[in-house]
Amino acid sequence: MTASIFIAMPGNEEAAGALAQAHGATTGQLELRAFPDGESYLRFGTDLSRQMLAIVCTLDRPNDKILSLLFAAATARELGAAKVGLVAPYLAYMRQDRRFKPGEAVTSREVAQLLSNSFDWLVTVDPHLHRYGSLGEIYRIPTSVVHAASLMAGWIRSNVADALIIGPDSESEQWVSTVAKDAGAPYTVLEKIRRGDRDVEISIRNLGDVSGRTPVLVDDIISTGRTMLETVRLLKARGVAAPVCVAVHGLFAADAYEMLIKAGARVVTCNTVRHPSNAIDVHGALAEALKTLRVPAN
Ligand code: R5P
Repeated sequence: MTASIFIAMPGNEEAAGALAQAHGATTGQLELRAFPDGESYLRFGTDLSRQMLAIVCTLDRPNDKILSLLFAAATARELGAAKVGLVAPYLAYMRQDRRFKPGEAVTSREVAQLLSNSFDWLVTVDPHLHRYGSLGEIYRIPTSVVHAASLMAGWIRSNVADALIIGPDSESEQWVSTVAKDAGAPYTVLEKIRRGDRDVEISIRNLGDVSGRTPVLVDDIISTGRTMLETVRLLKARGVAAPVCVAVHGLFAADAYEMLIKAGARVVTCNTVRHPSNAIDVHGALAEALKTLRVPAN
């Protein structure tokens, strides 16, 4: 489908502009601010009647964003938009995909329900699909997923000589092997045990021949950075060259980025979440994914 208007939630202007340009569409205006008591004020400054609207909102730090996003979608419908879709380069809450302990909330399902109730379609980049086979298991609206593997592989090919691609755990193998194949590099996967939010243990089963190679750690998300950091430390202890950390989504909780830099790593991310480490552009791929998405007329 083609959207006729792209509207950015705050901080998403660059992505909305790139998508609008690729679709020959316009960008619309949304004023969003907080009342003194913290409640949200929203006002569209663009006529939305009969428009195919795409709201662009990446969902890192989601609790600060989701309520306003739902207000925006509902208001756009009241103002006559024909369709209201969501481009969320990073889709939050996907890691809570199981009740790991009795009584836990499976928030991936709750967020999927909220967004499916409010939007007609969703386009995103590499959602964390470890225990779900596809977004269709939890989203009731048409979805399209951009896979960043070939873009990451392209960056590695152009920027790292003699790379050895390293995945953090066996779950990442399918994905890491694709990046490695596209990058024309060998790969290996490590073993990871997560005991807590910031307590991660990485062990090396089979590192292979690293002589003369630059280790490139590849993961979908950097959140606390502990997965990457422990791997960097482990590799350094083995006297391996300073690694490059490449991730799709750089969330960088607290001082995660600074710790990785301090540990001697080079850190590179896709521009799904705006950050100084962004070096891999996914906007073109997002625009194409939206063009090929099939959305029923009614
Ligand atoms: C886990 O399944 C993911 O693929 C990442 O490895 C994880 O989210 C990274 O988190 P952190 O940066 O907090 O170690």
